[in-house]
Amino acid sequence: MRRTVRLCALTTSLFVLTLGALLWGARPAAAQANGEKIVGGPYAVNVGPRSATVVWVIQKGEAAVGTEPGKMERTAPILRAESITLTALRPGLTYYYQSFPGEAGKGSFKTPPAGAARFQFVVYGDTRTRHDVHRTVVEGILKNANPDFVMHTGDLVADGGDTSQWPIFFDAERELLRKTAFFPALGNHERNAKNYFDYMDARPYYSFNWGSSHFTVINSDIENVGATDTEKDSFWKEQAQWLAADLRDAQSADFRFVFAHHPPETAVRRRQGENKQMTELEPMFEKYRVSAGFFGHDHNYQHYLKNGIHYFTTGGGGAPLYDVDTPPEGITVKVVSTENFVVVNVDGKTARVEARKPNGELLDSTELHQ
Ligand SMILES: [Fe+2]
Repeated sequence: MRRTVRLCALTTSLFVLTLGALLWGARPAAAQANGEKIVGGPYAVNVGPRSATVVWVIQKGEAAVGTEPGKMERTAPILRAESITLTALRPGLTYYYQSFPGEAGKGSFKTPPAGAARFQFVVYGDTRTRHDVHRTVVEGILKNANPDFVMHTGDLVADGGDTSQWPIFFDAERELLRKTAFFPALGNHERNAKNYFDYMDARPYYSFNWGSSHFTVINSDIENVGATDTEKDSFWKEQAQWLAADLRDAQSADFRFVFAHHPPETAVRRRQGENKQMTELEPMFEKYRVSAGFFGHDHNYQHYLKNGIHYFTTGGGGAPLYDVDTPPEGITVKVVSTENFVVVNVDGKTARVEARKPNGELLDSTELHQ
C-alpha cells in the first residue's frame, strides 16, 4: 500500500510530526488487532533531492505446504510492504521520521546535496546464506563508517521469491538501514521476484546524482529477465542503450560510478568468461569515462585497473567465500578471499576508496581523481 505525503512546511521537526500524525493510530492499531507484525524496516529508498520513499514490511500470518495431508514441511510468512512517498523535501538535509510507534519505527536519511559536497557511501553485497556473517559485516559498517547512503551489489537473499528469507535480511540490516538511504542492484538470487521490487520500490535499472557525482545501477541478471533468448536479448539491448545515454548525459559530473551484480572481470577461475555481456560493456565505460565500477556475485574482494577504470568486486557480505585463484594478468591491483565492505569518501575532485574487513582492518586503499 502506498501513500504520499507532501511537506508544505519544510522543517525536519514538522516532517516528523506530519508523518507521525498520519501513521500513528492508523496502521499500528489495525496491525495489532489483525495479528500483524513488522518484520522489515523502516528504511528509505529512492532518495532524491526532493522526494524519498520510506518502506516497512508487515507479516500477516503464514502459509504452510507439505507432501502429505496434515504434514506441513515448510511455512512461509505472508508479507506486504507499506510505503509512504515524501515529496517537497529539500536537498542536503537530514530528515527524521517515525513510520510506526516506538523506537523501532524511528529512522532518518539524508537527501543528496546539490553541487559539490563532501559525502560518504558504502558498497557491499552478497548478504545471503550465512546470516551470522552478514550481521558481522553490517556491524563492521556501523562501527567503521557513517555513510550518507549505502549501495548493495545484489544477492540480498538466497531466493527472492521465498518470503521466509526477507525478514532475516531485514533483521540483520535493521540498524544500518534505519539511519541511511538504500540503493540496491538486482542479483541473480533475487530471481527477478516481485518481492524484491515491492520491498525495494525498485526499478530494474536506474541512476541518480549525489552532489556532483553520478550513480548508475544496472541489472546484469540477464538469465531471469525473460523466458526466451529473444526476451533476454531485447532487455539487454534496451538497457545498454539507456546506459549509454545515461553516461553520455553525465559527462559534466565529477565522478561516474556504475553498479551491477555480475563483474566484468574476475579472479575466480571457474567463472572467467562467464559474464560476457558485462565485459563487453567495458569499451562503453571507457568511452564515457566511468570513474569506477562496483560489482558483487563473487564472494570476495577484487580490484582491477584497466584502461584507466577501477573495477571493484565487493561480494563479501555473508555468502560463502570463493577463492581468488587466477587473478587476471596486467590489471590486478588486489584480490583477497575475505568478507568485506567498501567505503568511499568523495571530497571535491577526489574520491578515496577503502576496502575493509568486518573488523575494520584495511584491505585496500585507492584515490580517484576527477
Ligand atoms: Fe550472484
